Amino acid sequence: MWIAENIAKLFSLKQITSVLDLGAGNGKRSLFSASYGAKVIAIDNQSMPLWQFPKYLKTHPSITFLQADIRDLNLNFNQSFDLILLFNVIVFLKKKFFLEQILPYYLEKLNKWGVLCLSFFFDDDPTMSINQKLSFYVFKDFKLPKGYIIQKQEEKTLQDNHIPDGEHEHHVWYIEIIKV
Ligand SMILES: C[S@@+](CC[C@H](N)C(=O)[O-])C[C@H]1O[C@@H](n2cnc3c(N)ncnc32)[C@H](O)[C@@H]1O
Repeated sequence: MWIAENIAKLFSLKQITSVLDLGAGNGKRSLFSASYGAKVIAIDNQSMPLWQFPKYLKTHPSITFLQADIRDLNLNFNQSFDLILLFNVIVFLKKKFFLEQILPYYLEKLNKWGVLCLSFFFDDDPTMSINQKLSFYVFKDFKLPKGYIIQKQEEKTLQDNHIPDGEHEHHVWYIEIIKV
């Protein structure tokens, strides 16, 4: 809800017509963005059985789905974007590679005044501690290239209820980076 509210706020404040949804999962953020009239490119490597991009969204007139790895920095979009979404994906990437190469690569894909939003679970999130291969971040890890600023950073504890964990809480950190 909170992430959706943040996206909704951006759509109300800015003219957003192009969205890149990285690690799109089940496509709920892609569909939400398309509901505001944006054209969306959604990318996921489909590596998680519980987070498959649904077939019915692959034929959505405003959403283009690409099965690809967001670590592939040769992906060529032939366009730049007003909004880039990176929700709950970066814990699965090698931290140094993400901060030094992947993040700058996708920041370059923003239009002027475009926004990259990302969220990640903090290391005390109860659903995260069992998997030792995850990467954890804090706000001060995000040292940005010249020409970009953090316009918002917040953390919250949110209730959730889904398989396989049942009712549980997530400790979520959220950042908006803007190209100035
Ligand atoms: C926890 S889900 C989050 C999905 C969606 N962003 C959301 O917030 O609802 C993480 C997603 O990232 C995708 N993913 C993880 N590593 C990836 C990679 N290297 N390239 C593309 N997708 C990746 C997974 O397949 C999964 O769909």
